[in-house]
Amino acid sequence: MSKFIMIIFGASGDLTKRKLMPALYTLYKGGRLPEGFSILGIGRTSYTDNYYREYILNELHRFVPAAEQVEQQMTDFCNHLFYQTLNPAEAGEYGLLNERLEAISGEVRPDNLLFYLATPPSLYGVIPLHLKAAGLNRPRTRIIVEKPFGYDLNSARELNEVYASVFQEHQIYRIDHFLGKETAQNILAFRFANGIFEPLWNRNYIDYVEITAVENLGIEGRGGFYEDTGALRDMVQNHLVQLVALTAMEPPAVFNADNFRNEVVKVYESLAPLTEEDLEEHIVRGQYTASGSKAGYREEKGVAPDSRTETYIAMKIGINNWRWSGVPFYIRTGKQMPTKVSEIVVHFRETPHRMFRCEGGNCPRANKLILRLQPNEGIVLKFGMKACGTGFDVKQV
Ligand code: BG6
Repeated sequence: MSKFIMIIFGASGDLTKRKLMPALYTLYKGGRLPEGFSILGIGRTSYTDNYYREYILNELHRFVPAAEQVEQQMTDFCNHLFYQTLNPAEAGEYGLLNERLEAISGEVRPDNLLFYLATPPSLYGVIPLHLKAAGLNRPRTRIIVEKPFGYDLNSARELNEVYASVFQEHQIYRIDHFLGKETAQNILAFRFANGIFEPLWNRNYIDYVEITAVENLGIEGRGGFYEDTGALRDMVQNHLVQLVALTAMEPPAVFNADNFRNEVVKVYESLAPLTEEDLEEHIVRGQYTASGSKAGYREEKGVAPDSRTETYIAMKIGINNWRWSGVPFYIRTGKQMPTKVSEIVVHFRETPHRMFRCEGGNCPRANKLILRLQPNEGIVLKFGMKACGTGFDVKQV
């Protein structure tokens, strides 16, 4: 078997240290990476292989959960790392990449390659074209591109055309890392591997749905990226809208990628278009300001002092189909919030009649189902029970 090489553009960036390398290390530790794999980091900053290995080892200590850190395995993993200084915007430099890949694999024209674009979005359209010019779009090659994929509908379509001119569709992965979370995947298992919830999963029993993904971190030095992105492109159009789809979709007839995708698309086609009224009344945009020792968004590096980019969004969306018509989905996301939590709360309709007295006068009349993605992953169902003791008060448990 030929060697597998993963090539990361943006090798010294925030995504690489915070998410990619810890995830790759965890796969390595679990024996999930093929023998003889290599990871080649690409960036403009000049590093040697050894410097890059030390740098990543350090970051693994920061970002891999303590329970997963095994010193020897972290060092072994880092020995699979290489680094190539290269400006990805310069077509002329891709010869260096070709040479490096041949040297690492010991093969002429290796093709078991996976390119990962962890770069600023401005490079998403440039890199594939340069890869093509350098002959690096080979049959077994795959490419993963981060979001936001385009800036708006037209630029997303143009970008799609670029990718289609370089790779075949099965070689392209437009990634949304929320879909890799066990808890996100479990929404499907919860809904479609159990018979008792699905009959209730519609407008007859559900009052409204809340989907939240808030974080207690700011933009972590990513001002250059975030200024043009904002919460709408960073979290809403991708992660939150995917969670809406998982919550609202119909069960696919067969569980495979195409059928799954088709059901997701049907949800998107049913989304009620936003009106002027929605913009004024059903969407809230905000920006975090300084608090305690934490800088406000406008004080962050790379952010304009009069920036209008939103770091918080809450909005109400509607799904116009038989299952969901009239059931609002409230989605919200924000940076620098008091806590980090991602969850879906399904609020069921209230009981038609209040028969019992309630403990403390606080009457729980509606059931709530909470699908908690992180932290404290789990599923919680809230319902009324009799409070212990004499009398017949009811409380929520
Ligand atoms: C990323 C966003 O896609 O998701 C980040 O670019 C955000 O801004 C992150 O912090 C949140 O992901 P998670 O998995 O930590 O909830």
